[in-house]
Amino acid sequence: MVNNYKIILTGASGQLGRTFLKISNKYPSHLFHFFSKGDLDITNFQLVENVIKNIKPNIIINCAAYTDVNSSEKNKKIANLINNISVENLAKLCYKYEIRLIHFSTDYVFDGNTDSPYHETDKVNPINFYGYTKLMGENSILKLNLKDSFVIRTSWLFSEYKTNFVKKIIDKANLGIDIRVKENEFGSPTYALDLARITMYLIQNIKNEGAEIFNISNVGICSRYEFAKKILEFTNHNKKIYKFYDDNSDIKRPIFSALSTKKISKLLNFKINKWEDSLKLMIKEMKL
Ligand SMILES: NC(=O)c1ccc[n+]([C@@H]2O[C@H](COP(=O)([O-])OP(=O)(O)OC[C@H]3O[C@@H](n4cnc5c(N)ncnc54)[C@H](OP(=O)(O)O)[C@@H]3O)[C@@H](O)[C@H]2O)c1
Repeated sequence: MVNNYKIILTGASGQLGRTFLKISNKYPSHLFHFFSKGDLDITNFQLVENVIKNIKPNIIINCAAYTDVNSSEKNKKIANLINNISVENLAKLCYKYEIRLIHFSTDYVFDGNTDSPYHETDKVNPINFYGYTKLMGENSILKLNLKDSFVIRTSWLFSEYKTNFVKKIIDKANLGIDIRVKENEFGSPTYALDLARITMYLIQNIKNEGAEIFNISNVGICSRYEFAKKILEFTNHNKKIYKFYDDNSDIKRPIFSALSTKKISKLLNFKINKWEDSLKLMIKEMKL
């Protein structure tokens, strides 16, 4: 079930946006229009509507977000404007112009008080402001029940682009800086390339009457410490990593936020990579 789609992608300079840009030539039947923040600020509602009227897309992939968890606590107004109010605006415009909305959300909509992976239907309860704004964004899409639209929750995203946990650990190792990593935080790392490919598969193959939530992450669960250890192993660094247990931080993060990929796995005609295998691929892609 592949159609020719006209696709607007927002947040094109972010790590996920740049990954979609990289793979877009693998989907020649679709016409992608990539917009970074400078070209299309999603908080500028009039501009967003003008761009939609001009391009007349079938699909909007929203990769734009305020993703700095710590800064979200201090800059509540802007985090809420980008992750919540602007997403509500996008959802309303998609409703008005009959556009499919593909939106990304986070494992941080959960409180982390569990020890088994979260399913799409599990109870949400964000414990920081970033998680709260992302949940509100999700809700606007679900409330309008946009046809053939997806809220895709992902976790611990890494890629060869921008800054992320993997690149921070590699940078520290290269610069000889001590590496201190939390032991009491567990999740599923996700390679942006896998996320983008699976999202494209969903877009091309899944139709539903309303909006639906999907979890997408790589397979497997680890602690931040185990993640960091593998990053050093795969980049041939033998630097020591110091574990720490942070329970007193001002900004709370879920202790366990791995996402179950059972639902998505049943829909795919390929297997999702284990996080270690995708980490190896990403490191190869960085040409270290
Ligand atoms: N990174 C993670 O670990 C993680 C985990 C779970 C879920 N997610 C979700 O996955 C999605 C993609 O994340 P990512 O890691 O690719 O984020 P990212 O690298 O921070 O990219 C987000 C992009 O959005 C842009 N942006 C910010 N405000 C905007 C605005 N008003 N209008 C248009 N663009 C704007 C940013 O531009 P500037 O950089 O110029 O501000 C940036 O290029 C997000 O929805 C995020 O919440 C991420």
